[in-house]
Amino acid sequence: MGIRNRYRTMIALTVQLLFTACAKSTAATDSPQQSKGLKDYFSDYFTMGVAVSPAALSGPESDLILKNFGSLTCENVMKPAPIHPDENRYSWTNADLIANYAKANKLKMRGHTLVWHRQSPAWFFKDEQGNPATKELVLKRLREHIHQVVGRYKGVVYAWDVVNEAIDDSDQKTYRETDWYKICGPEYIASAFRYAHEADPDALLFYNDYNTENPVKREKIINMIKGLLDEGVPIHGIGLQGHWSVSYPSEKQLRESIDQYAKLGLKIQVTELDVSVYPSGHNNPDDDAFTPEREQKQIDQYKMIFRVLRDYRSVISAVTFWNVSDKSSWLDNYPVPGRKNYPLLFDTNLQPKKAFWEIVNW
Ligand code: GLA
Repeated sequence: MGIRNRYRTMIALTVQLLFTACAKSTAATDSPQQSKGLKDYFSDYFTMGVAVSPAALSGPESDLILKNFGSLTCENVMKPAPIHPDENRYSWTNADLIANYAKANKLKMRGHTLVWHRQSPAWFFKDEQGNPATKELVLKRLREHIHQVVGRYKGVVYAWDVVNEAIDDSDQKTYRETDWYKICGPEYIASAFRYAHEADPDALLFYNDYNTENPVKREKIINMIKGLLDEGVPIHGIGLQGHWSVSYPSEKQLRESIDQYAKLGLKIQVTELDVSVYPSGHNNPDDDAFTPEREQKQIDQYKMIFRVLRDYRSVISAVTFWNVSDKSSWLDNYPVPGRKNYPLLFDTNLQPKKAFWEIVNW
């Protein structure tokens, strides 16, 4: 081989080595320039969703949503009070806007929520004279509400949070003493699932709650669901809200909980995920900086959560974040009004945070 040919071969080999090294490094760790979205990194695991308001569906937030998520939940506008403000008046505009956007962009949609103790209009519980309504009247109204709402979004909404937060947080009581419960007893829960199934037999019907990793509350939820299943009530899934924080849940609590819920044989979805940077009980309104320590704790917690969720991919079918980015989260006003929180994977400028890269490059 002549000197010139030897040089050519050496150069070709070096180029090939460099090329292979580069290809390997991008395969192992994707960078911020990456064009894949969150949903693509998890396509072999579960659907990634996000809760939105109508305002999020235009401008840069819309681009972020379409790139990163495959499913939408209405943050508020499908709840009973906004969508059915008076007995004889439905207000469909905002919910239609989100449902039409989901349809136009081929996104899945979760319906949230048909029965809840909050954001439920007072008219449900009073008769025409202003006296407390009877159980018969309340259930009749509930059936009508569910038929209208579920019927309207049939074919767009594939899963409904039928009943939200019916279980009490205390160790003493099983059911939360809501207006629904006070008037109807626990029967309103089974009835709501039956009405939803009548309205859309193809929809997956979920019971949804928070603090689902607390062993006492967990047992109450599981017993309630077992009872519903024994009665033949059409319930298909349990929604773990996932309003978590840097201090809750622990890996052990999370694994044990998913194990227990999985034994029910229902689908499991994480329906409202966010990770507060404040540990529970930290309520100082002035201490709200996203310090490097807080950032690291949040990264560790997100990594733990997604390690566990990935391990349980055979039972978990979807993970939905509650809000799009740190620009605006309900946690900016809860539990401390006006205290900024940073609970999501995208920062206040809509850019992926370190936690994002850590969970996709696992
Ligand atoms: C609960 C509800 C949601 C939402 C959040 C906080 O988890 O299910 O609809 O209201 O609280 O905003």
